[in-house]
Amino acid sequence: MGVPLMDLRGQWAPLHDQITAAVGEVITSGVFILGPNVKAFEAETAADLGVAHAVGVANGTDALLLALRAHDIGAGDEVICPAYTFYATPESIAAVGATPVFADIEPTTYQLDPASVEAAITDRTKAIMAVHLFGHPAPMKELRAIADAKGLLLIEDAAQSYGASLDGVRCGAIGDIATFSFFPTKNLGGFGDGGLVTTNDDAIAERIRELRFHGSKDKRTFTQVGMNSRLDELQAAILRVLLPELAGWNDLRQAAAARYADLGLDRFVELPGTAPGADPIYHLYVVRCQDRDAIQGALKAADVGCVVYYDTPHHLQPVFADLGYEEGSLPETERASRECLALPMYPTLPEADQHALIAALEAASA
Ligand SMILES: Cc1ncc(COP(=O)(O)O)c(C=O)c1O
Repeated sequence: MGVPLMDLRGQWAPLHDQITAAVGEVITSGVFILGPNVKAFEAETAADLGVAHAVGVANGTDALLLALRAHDIGAGDEVICPAYTFYATPESIAAVGATPVFADIEPTTYQLDPASVEAAITDRTKAIMAVHLFGHPAPMKELRAIADAKGLLLIEDAAQSYGASLDGVRCGAIGDIATFSFFPTKNLGGFGDGGLVTTNDDAIAERIRELRFHGSKDKRTFTQVGMNSRLDELQAAILRVLLPELAGWNDLRQAAAARYADLGLDRFVELPGTAPGADPIYHLYVVRCQDRDAIQGALKAADVGCVVYYDTPHHLQPVFADLGYEEGSLPETERASRECLALPMYPTLPEADQHALIAALEAASA
């Protein structure tokens, strides 16, 4: 591949010896489950994000399930979420027996549209699950006002947004409870699966600690049906090496995004918008194309990586056919699914690759 969509090896390379040493220490210790590294990583992320509690779990999908289960959300309940997101968002809602209710998105940031969320509320609505999509914060101020007025729980799916903030408050510290994924391609990505739940609620944090360990405090007395969903000690040790580097990596992503704008990428596609007060960290750099096939064709011909994410939004996926959504019911979601395209974005993205992308589009439009 001439210009890859993503190549994270360059960000890890300078840390090779530190990571190897951290892994070696865990192996020597013989402690692989809920040991000192998980404990320290939980304290470090809680301090870093500005929350009272962070609980390490097996992956970002389990983090969502645990957030819902800790609040007893299940059969008969509705949870409002976007249809333009990774499948785990609505999947987690359905997996606990609740019903995902899909709201539309704003056209420039691709985040939940508060007016659409408000219109989707019924007597059965228990929570809003906002997603900070592509590294940009959801409109939490507006969603908070709606949640407070209706007595709803506000969940943040921050899987794609470790390090982003809104009005100076970090994603993961804004809502009632938040979830993260450490899937390797995430901005803070481990070397395998991993996840985190954050909250300021002492009782909920305690419940999640029990639920992740088969519903038990002491491994002998079982007070509820739980899960086996723990962050591995090895992953925690690796993530502790990566965490201090993340702010610098996110700065590099922001610089790369600014460079796309400086190079005049907006001559060919619509650039992602930034909401007032938002500090996005460009987990993905997603543009909107009037003729996506043509842009994709031009980039492919020049060996420049690009990918379409979420081309069938979830309200139109077969798994949710019973919910009765029809094409046209979420117009901005469907338009984003038709028009959006992710372009190369990662901390060590070479400037030359961005020039090559622009040259490919210039050549195709000449
Ligand atoms: C928005 C969103 N939610 C949830 C998840 C689920 O995370 P994981 O893959 O760690 O289960 C992901 C990641 O893939 C995601 O992008």
